[in-house]
Amino acid sequence: MATVYSLASLKGGVSKTTATINIGGAFTTMGLAGANKKVLLIDLDPSGNLTANCGINPASLNKNTSYEVVVGTKAIKDCIIKLEHFDLIPANADLANAPADFLTMYNKSGKQGEKILSQQLWDIGNDYDVIIQDNQPSWNKLLFSSLISADMVLVPVQPAFFSVIGLNEMIKTIKEVKENFDNDVDYRVFLSMFDERRVLDRESLEIIKKEAGDRLLKTKIRNNISVSEASGNYQNIFQYAPQSIGAEDYLNLAKEIVGI
Ligand SMILES: Nc1ncnc2c1ncn2[C@@H]1O[C@H](COP(=O)(O)OP(=O)(O)O)[C@@H](O)[C@H]1O
Ligand SMILES: [Mg+2]
Repeated sequence: MATVYSLASLKGGVSKTTATINIGGAFTTMGLAGANKKVLLIDLDPSGNLTANCGINPASLNKNTSYEVVVGTKAIKDCIIKLEHFDLIPANADLANAPADFLTMYNKSGKQGEKILSQQLWDIGNDYDVIIQDNQPSWNKLLFSSLISADMVLVPVQPAFFSVIGLNEMIKTIKEVKENFDNDVDYRVFLSMFDERRVLDRESLEIIKKEAGDRLLKTKIRNNISVSEASGNYQNIFQYAPQSIGAEDYLNLAKEIVGI
């Protein structure tokens, strides 16, 4: 059965999309945890950044996207695009309708639409080793849908004054989802875009350590221009700059995650 990871944070710009691609790349391009690992990335952000980063224009998509998957109008198998390094379920702006659709479903039939994604993942669980979901930064039923379906939520935190508040909210949300949907999703926190030379970053690290406790991963993803450039070139960091510190950090992060 595939292990399902969900990159989640209530903040934008903290590396969710970047981490989705590069953790995926650690398994495929780097062959982490054995050769021929099958990896599926799922774009659950209506802005389609992950999709665009994979070289697909979200606006060119018609049906067969993650929207159809989460609301259950298409079978997940019919929405998978095969790419060179991993498979992808792409997203476009249609996905923004999902939370309202879940509400309509509930009002009409009492059905909890947020659970559809989990059911869909069961159907392909044996086709993949790793499934990684990228999320939008909003607190809504689409995010819950991802959290419910995951084995492990990965929360990137960028060192900043208010990052600990966002982290607090995210941890609370995961706990609520655990209780309300009676599932046993776990979570880990990691630092993204860390710069050891900055006092603010070092201070933030201490605060985040207190908040995340033993759920904070040891690996810190450092600020590295190659990570940013790789996305612009539609590549993961291991393809674009295998010798960079970004590649080193993301490989260490993926190794640490596999070891949990
Ligand atoms: N380690 C890093 N070093 C430098 N830039 C980074 C790093 N990680 C992400 N970025 C850049 O930060 C921006 C936000 O990242 P992104 O993954 O899109 O965040 P999110 O998906 O959480 O909104 C992007 O421009 C990305 O290229
Ligand atoms: Mg994103």
